[in-house]
Amino acid sequence: MRTIFVTGGAGFIGSAFVRLVLDEHPDVSIVDYDALTYAGNLENLSGVDNARHTFIKGDICDREAVLAAVPEGCDAIFNFAAESHVDRSITSADEFLRTNVIGTQVLLDAARARDVRRFVQVSTDEVMGTLPDDSDEYFTESSPLRPNSPYAASKAAAEFVVRAARETHGVDAVITRCGNNYGPRQFPEKLIPLMIANAIDGEPLPVYGDGRNVRDWIYVDDHCRAIWLAYEKGRSGEAYNIGARNEKENITVVRAILDALGKPHDLIKFVTDRPGHDRRYAIDPSKAETELGWQPQVSWEDGLARTIAWYRSNEAWVSHVRSGEYREYYQAMYGGR
Ligand code: NAD
Ligand code: DAU
Repeated sequence: MRTIFVTGGAGFIGSAFVRLVLDEHPDVSIVDYDALTYAGNLENLSGVDNARHTFIKGDICDREAVLAAVPEGCDAIFNFAAESHVDRSITSADEFLRTNVIGTQVLLDAARARDVRRFVQVSTDEVMGTLPDDSDEYFTESSPLRPNSPYAASKAAAEFVVRAARETHGVDAVITRCGNNYGPRQFPEKLIPLMIANAIDGEPLPVYGDGRNVRDWIYVDDHCRAIWLAYEKGRSGEAYNIGARNEKENITVVRAILDALGKPHDLIKFVTDRPGHDRRYAIDPSKAETELGWQPQVSWEDGLARTIAWYRSNEAWVSHVRSGEYREYYQAMYGGR
């Protein structure tokens, strides 16, 4: 048996990763460490086989708690835990710097103290900033890090502390940089689940600016498979860009959701743009394809249909996460927009 330590495993991507690993790798057991912030939700782990999965509630910035939780000699730490929403980082950046940077340093120190073989840092394409409209430029692993939002800056800083741990202390580390994920259990502050939930309820769909910003969408399980392969086959010190060659303008995504739900396009409401809004993300995943042997398996059409079906049949999950804090957030973010 191999044991791995996963942080943020009650969030959107972390919980999908936990499910995938337990399903596909019977020789792996998981210690899942998550602070259960507004974005963490134990319902995301419902149905998971707990014979090989141990959940520990804790903060990655809490050094003592992390040291107590990381098993001595475990095979890897996968760091998913983060503050992940750009709009929240624009309102207030402190928690982003704390969790995403300090938390990553604490985990790297724990990796050394507990003799962990490999550290996998789940990063994002946003560290590379933005690409011009209508160009044939793509993000590659040699693109400069030019983050534009406080969230992206904190993730870029996290990459640098990972690099420093490797160069200074010899920590074996790989970094993955993925584009926009979508799929079941994504918190409805992000574009696709927010639009699905609002469309189901017949509420306005708030599209920022002219709606022509481009994102490169990937089904969450395809991202998780790439992270696993980076852990198994990636070269220490390397970063791997992950993307499904699936660029879409936001307005195209929103219209596709309305069409799939049989809702009218006049629910779309153009609202004030996000400050510093990155125009276009587009990933060249050639390195992951050739070095890791990774290929996405889920098409955009199939992935979007699966995602919409999940939200339609999980109304209880949606209504739980949209109560309380979410209502205040939604009012503050969209109320006067
Ligand atoms: P999420 O917001 O859904 O989940 C984050 C999880 O981290 C939550 O369960 C939360 O409780 C936990 N967490 C937050 N602060 C913590 C702390 N201090 N200590 C312990 N746990 C804490 O995020 P997500 O969309 O699942 O993203 C997961 C990771 O993937 C992040 O590192 C993010 O930067 C990266 N990423 C996300 C995307 C995307 O499209 N969502 C794309 C590329 C990379
Ligand atoms: O590219 C990877 C990144 O993708 C991840 O690192 C982040 O964690 C994740 O949040 C995501 O960042 P984005 O800012 O691209 O995602 P978001 O879903 O917030 O927005 C997607 C696009 O949709 C973006 O151009 C802004 C726009 N948008 C978003 C919301 C929430 C709207 O037009 N209206 C909205 O209400």
